[in-house]
Amino acid sequence: MNSALMIRGGRPLRGSISIQGAKNSVLPILAAAIMGEGEQVVRRCPWLSDVESTFHILRYLGCRVRREGNAVVVDPGPMDRCDIPDRLMREMRSSVVFLGAILARSGEACMSFPGGCELGPRPIDLHLSALRALGAEILETGGNLICRGRHMVGQEINLTFPSVGATENIMLAACGASGVTRVTNAAREPEIEDLQRFLRAMGAHVDGAGTSTVVIEGGHALHAAEHTILPDRIAAATYLAAAAAAGGTITVEDICPEHLSTVTSILAEAGCEIRAGHTHITLHREAPLHAMRPVRTMPYPGFPTDAQSPLMAVAARAEGATVFVENIFENRFRHVGELARMGADIKVAGRVAVVCGVSRLYGAHVCATDLRGGAALLVAALGAEGESRLTGLRHLDRGYEAPERRLAALGADVRRVEEEAGANGPAQRAAGRLCD
Ligand code: EPZ
Repeated sequence: MNSALMIRGGRPLRGSISIQGAKNSVLPILAAAIMGEGEQVVRRCPWLSDVESTFHILRYLGCRVRREGNAVVVDPGPMDRCDIPDRLMREMRSSVVFLGAILARSGEACMSFPGGCELGPRPIDLHLSALRALGAEILETGGNLICRGRHMVGQEINLTFPSVGATENIMLAACGASGVTRVTNAAREPEIEDLQRFLRAMGAHVDGAGTSTVVIEGGHALHAAEHTILPDRIAAATYLAAAAAAGGTITVEDICPEHLSTVTSILAEAGCEIRAGHTHITLHREAPLHAMRPVRTMPYPGFPTDAQSPLMAVAARAEGATVFVENIFENRFRHVGELARMGADIKVAGRVAVVCGVSRLYGAHVCATDLRGGAALLVAALGAEGESRLTGLRHLDRGYEAPERRLAALGADVRRVEEEAGANGPAQRAAGRLCD
């Protein structure tokens, strides 16, 4: 059976919703959990298929994993493997962050090459060159990475690009290296700071996360810890974009407003009234939307690439033209074709998309081909006239916890239906690999 979301657009959204724990924080933190002795308790662990994929890997490695409501308890005590098979790597390519954690714990690691996805080739050269700098021997053969790092030594490591995943992998591996590792041009995303908070709770010596220079003093035994995952800034941005597209007044609660300030400033420019408190943001949109200044995706604290597509769905109905420049990924405009099926007028040339706003979008059968592209189609459907059928939900379910429940709580006419297999169009079959 396949599932689809049936969305009848044009209804303003009203009310408050709380925001899930951050997908891009919980994944590296669950990987880090294998490095400590004793039970690691991770609270506000979102119910996502990517989290389930991570549980599959933890259990394959031999860890005990159990859910206790919104918390997950990981006991790496029984861990007796240091390899991740291709079938589990293919579920989620960002499992590459286990490389640093397994090396730190076991001194060796083996996994299939994570490969690319819809967003582009997704290379890991920065990860591998950094781990080799720490002294790991990494053999790339037959599509596998065979790594040995029993005697890693802390180093000065400069990243030529502030890669989030590479920064995380280095932080984890460096915990198992002797001496001090200093990472310059590190990624500054809030999820890096969250990882540092968890590592510190385990007894690791890590400083500087959130800045471009992260310093890790390795060689410390890591113990049991408890941690609450930070709120998902991209999920918050997506629901605010939904309210901007549909109109109305919503409040997203339990968030860090400063983590999505670049998104809210763009939404304000489009004509939304934004009020931010210490842990919430209220958005009101009644007047017609108008075009925004160019949206250029950049590493944090710049505009987040993960919010590009949901914001494009807002711009699609904004009077005037909005330019989007996607500087992070090679191929992150796959949602444009599906938005066009709803009546959007968007021209793409390489990394630039010019969105000419139209007065209305129309419901259609549209198919998600990646996680955030699916979010864009959901946002567009909420602001469209008529009914849309959104398929390809396996992409959406990787990063959004029960979106239909949260949106229905805001008054949206959205429901999840089960359909006979094969009910999806060619785009779904072409969807292929998942992206993180
Ligand atoms: C993380 O991916 C996130 N995923 C992505 O979120 C997010 O879009 C991205 O960071 C940027 O913020 C997780 O945290 C699980 P990068 P990651 O390494 O670590 C190139 C979502 O929708 N690069 O910062 O893979 C790479 O090709 C997902 O939630 C290299 O060239 O991102 C890309 O162009 C999508 N060599 C750019 O850097 C490397 O060794 C950014 O990649 C590594 C990366």
